[in-house]
Amino acid sequence: MANIQELIEQFESRYGASQAEVAVFHAPGRVNLIGEHTDYNGGYVFPAALTFGTTLLIRKREDNQLGLASTNFPAGKHISIEQVSYDEADDWMNYPKGIVNELHQRGVVFSSGYDLLYHGEIPNGSGLSSSASIEVVTAFALLSMEGQETNTVDIALLSQKSENEFNGVKCGIMDQFAVANGKKDHAILLMCDTLEYELVPFQSGSYKLVIGNTNKRRGLVDSKYNERRSQCEQAVAELRAAYPELTLLGQLTAEQFHEAKHLIQDDIVRSRAEHVVEEIARVLQSNEALRSNDLHKFGELMNASHDSLRNLYEVTGAELDAMVDAARQVEGVLGSRMTGAGFGGCTVSLVHEDQVEQFKQHVGERYTAATGLVADFYVCNIGNGVERLQ
Ligand code: GLA
Repeated sequence: MANIQELIEQFESRYGASQAEVAVFHAPGRVNLIGEHTDYNGGYVFPAALTFGTTLLIRKREDNQLGLASTNFPAGKHISIEQVSYDEADDWMNYPKGIVNELHQRGVVFSSGYDLLYHGEIPNGSGLSSSASIEVVTAFALLSMEGQETNTVDIALLSQKSENEFNGVKCGIMDQFAVANGKKDHAILLMCDTLEYELVPFQSGSYKLVIGNTNKRRGLVDSKYNERRSQCEQAVAELRAAYPELTLLGQLTAEQFHEAKHLIQDDIVRSRAEHVVEEIARVLQSNEALRSNDLHKFGELMNASHDSLRNLYEVTGAELDAMVDAARQVEGVLGSRMTGAGFGGCTVSLVHEDQVEQFKQHVGERYTAATGLVADFYVCNIGNGVERLQ
């Protein structure tokens, strides 16, 4: 995590000194252990918060200006906190602006403006939820500074709404929920339709979660993501001939699905739906496996998840597949899969602690040989959700 004193100095050199106190907040990134493309289908997901994410320094102003700046980018600006609108040229700043807009819509009247300085530690475009991290830390910080209630389930929902409506990205609830509600050394078993959730201790003994970043630019993710969403809706519409009440694929058990899947005309749409119902079943089996300390079973489920995302949901792509294939060749790897939306981004693997160096070397070399790209690796510890640091 960043050195807070240094960040406060950067804050003051950017915004000047003042009597008002600088408060410091942090929201993590997330990794999804299993349960991919199930959230918008009302199914289960099993993510965990990372120990790194976005640190936000915030200080009250005397006027109604909102100062936005980041240690990661040179540009910053002041706008009126009362009037925020989307502007493509504002890039990452549209995430905090979306939150301010969403808070307005919920009737929050700001008592003043604020200066904000962000420090992001999540590699951009890595699929570890840098945008959700910015959204959630902004909402939590602004509500805290205004002395309002900071219910983290509510904050996840308003952050998702902001991303869907203000930023036009039709993501599900998983990322914002994990970033807002994570807990150190726990995974979150979340039912995305009802938002009921349980914190499950993640005890991996002598095994480590290792994240591999493909560093592949995730072009066209949004359009392919939205296409998958509509294919799932199409499957629901056709399955209603057998289950008239059906609104989301997550409401079907795998058995119910298999009895009725012949009703889906298009082979591709049927495969997408099959991935979703079976992936949901794998999340529940993973929960059982982790609770009974059966890491081998959990690793098998991770592998099955990736294979289904590759063959049925078709969201992996050459880079993620190359990295996963290389990972599975290393002794002491129990499972390896893509994590997040896919089409680039990261993989997550369960690796014996004695093999981590060997893993990085072997997978790094094989990955570069296969793709010409250079991978990064992070040994992952599970951290807390959004919190005030100081
Ligand atoms: C992205 C979205 C999530 C989820 C995953 C796929 O991370 O933001 O809502 O749909 O893809 O599981």
